[in-house]
Amino acid sequence: MESNYENNQIKVENLYKTYKLGNIEYSALNGISLFIEKGAFKMILGPSGCGKTTLLNMLGGLDSPDKGSILIKFNGKYKNITEFSKKELTQYRREKIGIIFQFYNLIPILTALENVELAARFSGIMNPKLKSKELLENFGLADKVNHYPNQMSGGEQQRVAIARALIKDPVLILADEPTGNLDTKKSDEIYKLLKSLSEDYGKTILIVTHDEDMADKYAQNHIHIRDGTLIKEEQKAHHDIYMNNINKKL
Ligand SMILES: Nc1ncnc2c1ncn2[C@@H]1O[C@H](COP(=O)(O)OP(=O)(O)O)[C@@H](O)[C@H]1O
Ligand SMILES: [Mg+2]
Repeated sequence: MESNYENNQIKVENLYKTYKLGNIEYSALNGISLFIEKGAFKMILGPSGCGKTTLLNMLGGLDSPDKGSILIKFNGKYKNITEFSKKELTQYRREKIGIIFQFYNLIPILTALENVELAARFSGIMNPKLKSKELLENFGLADKVNHYPNQMSGGEQQRVAIARALIKDPVLILADEPTGNLDTKKSDEIYKLLKSLSEDYGKTILIVTHDEDMADKYAQNHIHIRDGTLIKEEQKAHHDIYMNNINKKL
């Protein structure tokens, strides 16, 4: 129990969040608890409006819960980010978390290299320009480093966004519907790249998707959310995934 406990990168307990629009209240998270071990590669699945983005935003320090705790392990200790000051949260977002969005969210007036380099500088890593260039080259974008976002395809922009997330050597990478705007072939490339962040760089990665086929193809671990609560955690065996893919093709 104890050793398992210590290997968790994230410990979320009893998270609640309600949004108010005028007189109407939308309960986005309804007491969600979640433990994610270090180096995990997990998919978060659930219908539109069930609270996936809200949960990811909380983990990334972009939004705060009404109740509950979010413990993230870094520098050898668990920190409850819900108790962070504004300044601590900004530092947390810049240095510890890599976020990947559906619409890439690159800065349009900066080149691919400058987008990655800016994140590298914010997080305070050594040799930011050189490291950014090397990473983009590793991601197959050597000939695109000086291109602006509008001079790149969706798949290329998302690869730049993934480089921007990875460059700071974050403790956690969060992706919210990263292929929602891409066709199947491009989605495959993006999922392969995300998987390599886990396998080659040992990163802890959570990916929100509603594409069950892709989730099955790339991850053994699925977290299912409904109405702001965790309803099921699945660990699929390789065999099940293989058979599922075969059955879907028949
Ligand atoms: N900023 C907001 N203001 C009001 N309601 C919100 C806001 N963000 C999310 N919600 C509501 O919270 C619920 C969960 O939303 P969200 O986390 O975006 O779901 P998902 O990402 O699973 O589609 C929805 O009912 C949504 O309308
Ligand atoms: Mg969403």
